[in-house]
Amino acid sequence: MNDPTICRCEGVTLRQIEKCLTVPDTSVSLRELKLQTRAGMGICQGRTCMPLLMAIADASGRGLSNDAGLPRNQPIRPIAMADLMNVVSKPERSVAE
Ligand code: FES
Repeated sequence: MNDPTICRCEGVTLRQIEKCLTVPDTSVSLRELKLQTRAGMGICQGRTCMPLLMAIADASGRGLSNDAGLPRNQPIRPIAMADLMNVVSKPERSVAE
């Protein structure tokens, strides 16, 4: 019943993360954790949940193997249509001005 949500964007809970970390394997990488649970694949691209995932992995004693090659995408942020229109409707300045 008490299963806090770790990744709000993808609805991944602590139990799901712990289940992934308890698989008797020699190593678990952040990439595997991400692919198995979808944690970190949401709209914030792990900005919120990655520190939690790392802390959970540290607390489990498993740690995570080196993930130097893990690609990170830019977080998607909402933009107001008015801001977008200002960017689009502004005429470009010429070099002579
Ligand atoms: S909270 Fe996990 S991807 Fe946003």
